[in-house]
Amino acid sequence: MCSLDVAYIRRDFPILERSLNGRKLIYLDNAATTQKPVQVVEALKEFYLMRNANVHRGIHSLGNEASKMYEEAREKVARFINAEPEEIIFVRSATEGVNLVAYAWGLYNLDRGDKVLYTLMDHHATIVPFHIVTGFRGAEHIGVEITDDGYIDMEDLAEKIRGAKIITFPHVSNVLSTINDVSSVVKLAREAGALVLLDATQSAPHMKLDVKRLDIDFMVFSSHKMLGPTGVGVLYVRKDLYREMGVFEGGGDMIRSVSYRDDYTPVVTYADPPIKYEAGTPAFAEIAVFPVALEYLESIGMENIHRYVNSLMWILYTRLAELDGVEVYGPSRREDRAGLVSFNVEGFNAHEVAAYLDSHGVAIRSGHHCTGPLHKRLGIEASARASFYIYNTYEEAEYVASLIEELVSG
Ligand SMILES: Cc1ncc(COP(=O)(O)O)c(C=O)c1O
Repeated sequence: MCSLDVAYIRRDFPILERSLNGRKLIYLDNAATTQKPVQVVEALKEFYLMRNANVHRGIHSLGNEASKMYEEAREKVARFINAEPEEIIFVRSATEGVNLVAYAWGLYNLDRGDKVLYTLMDHHATIVPFHIVTGFRGAEHIGVEITDDGYIDMEDLAEKIRGAKIITFPHVSNVLSTINDVSSVVKLAREAGALVLLDATQSAPHMKLDVKRLDIDFMVFSSHKMLGPTGVGVLYVRKDLYREMGVFEGGGDMIRSVSYRDDYTPVVTYADPPIKYEAGTPAFAEIAVFPVALEYLESIGMENIHRYVNSLMWILYTRLAELDGVEVYGPSRREDRAGLVSFNVEGFNAHEVAAYLDSHGVAIRSGHHCTGPLHKRLGIEASARASFYIYNTYEEAEYVASLIEELVSG
């Protein structure tokens, strides 16, 4: 059943040898952030100790070397998702990537009465930036329903997409674990003339993404959720859309020239994208090292990762779904789920469940997971979420299931 060598992989993650509360750590909060392999940490250390220089600035050789690594990282990320390098904008997080689209596209293209769609399973990272910008522009911002079994409600979408200018939705839900059918959403969006912003934050760590095949317009994801350093997000922009976009953040690096007129007002011209959207000093060390994480994932194989993590998820899902007094959320079809399980245990709130598991060394997340509308739709305040990754084991999944069984049986 095991399609990758977990014992071998675990040696690259020393944190997994740690004890917490007298128990060996079982880290199941991977949807929040993943652990980092020694290869990534060593590369970061090497950059800071031996290569550190700001990028795109001076002409000295050290700076040129750092700039080269930075641009090679852009090329690597582009290859990883089958995009062109100029379609890759480095930001601080997936969240900042969505903000960039909401402002640089939304402020310049949305008018009073225009419609922007999100789905009730969207993360706050895609809802709130468009909430702010549609507010500025007097545009509507409307949620698309989800079905009781955890899918986007395609009938509601077909209805609401008429007249919409853009839709945001998650490729993989960070609570329901649903792998959304991107092509069906894109088809309806195209028929309606709406753009598509795909939130790939929970799918990029698990599956091979090809932006050309997905046929989407914008896509975001975060390095820290896929073994990479923090402070690095990726925004993919289909390159012909740059023509429709204005500026977002202003500052150094994103300009071609800054001067002033006789009356002392500034005159600013901008660099070409993607640099136009990378104002100020980026997280250049972390960006330069991000390819090490991507290569690590590729060396395992994205298909192997999905298959393995999905099998861990399925162990926990099936055992919890059988229990009276436990409600498990999201699709019941294994092939429609990614690598996490969200649930509630009758008689306990989600934080009590997380604290109980924590006392056994198991780190899971509890709360609304930045999906307020989804929790409202599910009729709950919070949920407990166990999310798996490449270094988790079948034994860990079985152990957590047994702990919940014990909790239920009192
Ligand atoms: C589905 C989804 N979208 C967006 C985000 C935001 O990611 P970040 O906090 O790295 O910007 C998250 C993070 O949990 C997420 O799960």
